[in-house]
Amino acid sequence: MTTAAERDMYELFRSELVLCGVKPGVNVAVLSEGDQLQDYAATFIAAGRELGANVENVHLPTAKAMSASERIANVGQNSLSRHPAAMKTCKQADLVVDHMLLLFSREQIEMQKAGARVILVVEPIEILKRLAPTKAQRQRVEAAEVRLKRAKTLRFTNDAGTDVTYGLGDKEILTEYGYTDTPGRWDHWPGGFLATLAKNNQVNGRVVMQPKDIIYPLKSFVEKGIEFIIRDGRVVEMKGPDAPALKKFVETYKDPRAYAISHIGWGLNEKCEWRVDLPGIGMDGRAHYGNVLFSLGPDTEFGGDNDTACHLDLPMKNCTLYLDDEIIVERGKVVPADMRAPAH
Ligand code: FE2
Repeated sequence: MTTAAERDMYELFRSELVLCGVKPGVNVAVLSEGDQLQDYAATFIAAGRELGANVENVHLPTAKAMSASERIANVGQNSLSRHPAAMKTCKQADLVVDHMLLLFSREQIEMQKAGARVILVVEPIEILKRLAPTKAQRQRVEAAEVRLKRAKTLRFTNDAGTDVTYGLGDKEILTEYGYTDTPGRWDHWPGGFLATLAKNNQVNGRVVMQPKDIIYPLKSFVEKGIEFIIRDGRVVEMKGPDAPALKKFVETYKDPRAYAISHIGWGLNEKCEWRVDLPGIGMDGRAHYGNVLFSLGPDTEFGGDNDTACHLDLPMKNCTLYLDDEIIVERGKVVPADMRAPAH
């Protein structure tokens, strides 16, 4: 007997697999660990098989249970390297459903290079449901990607004094629209944003976060303000009333590479809420419509070699973002028509 909640999850996960191009003959690996998200894994396996796919249950024993928030605070570390058979199955799959949070790990990149597309699903069911992806969202994110690809500079400002410029040109663009049907491509459910990295550490200026801007993975609001002085792709100084606490967090990693400027982009998901008290890893802030997502730490997702475990995602509200001379976001409002959500 199934409950209404189980049927709901089944329908939701089945729709996600359809968006991911799952049909007869497609090889799917559902990857999970220990007792984490076993209901998700079982539901994806059942839905995939019903769609006619060949589905493998790749389940690893776990050494230490960690919540999604703890895992995202330690990205890039996972136990797959100790399980070559599991790794092989994932590399041979067309689609890997990742319930382990492989984000930024060497293993994930290996799977992608082998041609597997990877969809990360670790968020609580109420978040997955509210932020379920659509083809329209994909189109808006891809419209943004076209503009970002041809831009030579990205600059963003805010009323608190932010004025920072990124030189662009030779780095990959990461799009997240919540599903993936493209070989070798990674995505994350929920999504709704895009990001890239500066060319040759060409990031200079300052970023001033205001009260109610968000700090992930801490899932906290900035209370009074933090200022980052940036030279040649690195934070050289952090000041302002909230700086000591954030510095203390970064210093726990004992890794100076945590001060590197990481990805930059903006959010396009109009269903996201600007809150830090929601369960899960915090996609509401990261993908929030019209935010600017400033980030420090690793760059392996963009082909770089900084694999520091300290990864700060810092969504900011009411910013203005330019690509070359074109305004893309104006005080938190998305400007180009092909990126705008209906009624926004
Ligand atoms: Fe990030």
